[in-house]
Amino acid sequence: MASSEEYLFEYKGCYFIKTLITPEYLDTLEDFEIRESDVFLVTYPKSGTVWTQNILSLIYHEGHQNGTEEADLIDRVPWLECKFRNVDYATRTSPRLFATHLPYYLVPKGLRNGRAKVIYVARNPKDALVSYYHYSKLNIYIKDAQDFDILMESFLAGKVPAGLWLDHIDGWSTHRDNFNILFLTYEEMKKDLRSSVLKICNFLGKSLPETKVDDIVDKASFDKMRVDPRTNYETIAPDILDNTKGHFLRKGTIGDWKNIMTVAQSERFDSIFKERMEKLPFKFCWDIKDEL
Ligand code: A3P
Repeated sequence: MASSEEYLFEYKGCYFIKTLITPEYLDTLEDFEIRESDVFLVTYPKSGTVWTQNILSLIYHEGHQNGTEEADLIDRVPWLECKFRNVDYATRTSPRLFATHLPYYLVPKGLRNGRAKVIYVARNPKDALVSYYHYSKLNIYIKDAQDFDILMESFLAGKVPAGLWLDHIDGWSTHRDNFNILFLTYEEMKKDLRSSVLKICNFLGKSLPETKVDDIVDKASFDKMRVDPRTNYETIAPDILDNTKGHFLRKGTIGDWKNIMTVAQSERFDSIFKERMEKLPFKFCWDIKDEL
């Protein structure tokens, strides 16, 4: 079984997948020119990226809302540090929407200076880990994830794409004053999607009619997104994602970690994560029945 070192590389204290991202390209991002109208969605992997990409796309792209625009979600809201389709981001028309998993200190300096808007979506890390475990079976490049115990150790050591979950969220949260940023959690989106969509619209200065908001909430539901090949990432090349092994939109719930993690694994997880998590200014819920 390949170890995480074989498919990841380290860049300035963070980890990236070798075949998708290069250090040379990451070097260029510091000076990537930011426009005030840009919107960046920041997430740790498996925390609701595609979900929020879809919401942003629905808010901004009339054609998407009306079903007239034939574009993949990954092209509407492309991944900053990974150019799947070799598009020149600098020539895209405004407002540009991006998604990124970068830690705060690796994003373009224009973003760190408060230009442009940032939406950070966080998810409870046990569910993010379990989601990553299942996703690893689809992603051709992730090699060490077949055994949950091994993957959990890599996750707890931060030797996974985007590095240590704690560092990622702590870094963004501690430096929030440098950014024009809205924090949301996967759990609050799951509990009350309409309020989350309204929060996003409010932050972006978009005042949409009630019916449009209703439509976005409907189109961003798990069931609708799962049957749409563009939002279920079935249009990503099969040499990156093998959709015969599962679905990108898998379960879409809170607390699925309980179906995989043993009590001993959960306790080990807590022994490493709990202390730092308690200092974070976020409330996560660990079960779909828990109040937020
Ligand atoms: P699960 O594997 O737990 O189902 P990301 O896009 O950051 O990789 O996150 C993927 C996770 O978000 C998956 O979690 C996926 O099912 C979930 N997700 C995507 N769209 C969703 C939606 N509309 N509602 C709820 N969860 C969603």
